[in-house]
Amino acid sequence: MVRQRLEFMERKERLAVYPGSFDPVTNGHVDIIERSLKFIDRLIVSVTHHPTKKPFFSFKERMEMLREIFKGRDEIIVEYFDGLLVDYLKKRGVYLVIRGLRAVSDFDYEFQMVLTNRKLLPQIETIFLTPREEYLYLSSSAVKEIARLNGPVEKFVPEVVAKKLKEKFFSNL
Ligand code: PNS
Repeated sequence: MVRQRLEFMERKERLAVYPGSFDPVTNGHVDIIERSLKFIDRLIVSVTHHPTKKPFFSFKERMEMLREIFKGRDEIIVEYFDGLLVDYLKKRGVYLVIRGLRAVSDFDYEFQMVLTNRKLLPQIETIFLTPREEYLYLSSSAVKEIARLNGPVEKFVPEVVAKKLKEKFFSNL
């Protein structure tokens, strides 16, 4: 018993970063987060800018939605960073990155990102996870489009996000 306890205390915590724009977080992201926690102890969900996409929700709004979804889950930390992912990882002292890989169309971008980041910081490793089949074609952009056209967005995002999308698109009509 004492030995078991000591082993537990000596075991290093397995920590990873899941970076993304999460604009907004979808059920696909939630699925990736839950999957990653099967093999790591804590996940830092790190909200940042996508270099070419104009944000729809502010950093604050995106983080608030994520925090609301994972309220009471100490193993999920929500943060934001500005600048290069490698600089953030160095500052955080975490070298394991989680990314979701859906269809083949994601591959080029992800491959380029991994290799470029590895050149900048060789100790990074990236683990790609694939979400449930029904989320394979789901994206934040599609969700915004559905919401804008008053479609049933609650099929694709957590309740808090669906509510926020409706507020944002229709509150001042
Ligand atoms: O959810 P996204 O928009 O596909 O995430 C892409 C993201 C934000 C993780 C990526 O663009 C990123 O890491 N941006 C931070 C800036 C950076 O390090 N760029 C160099 C990547 S090669």
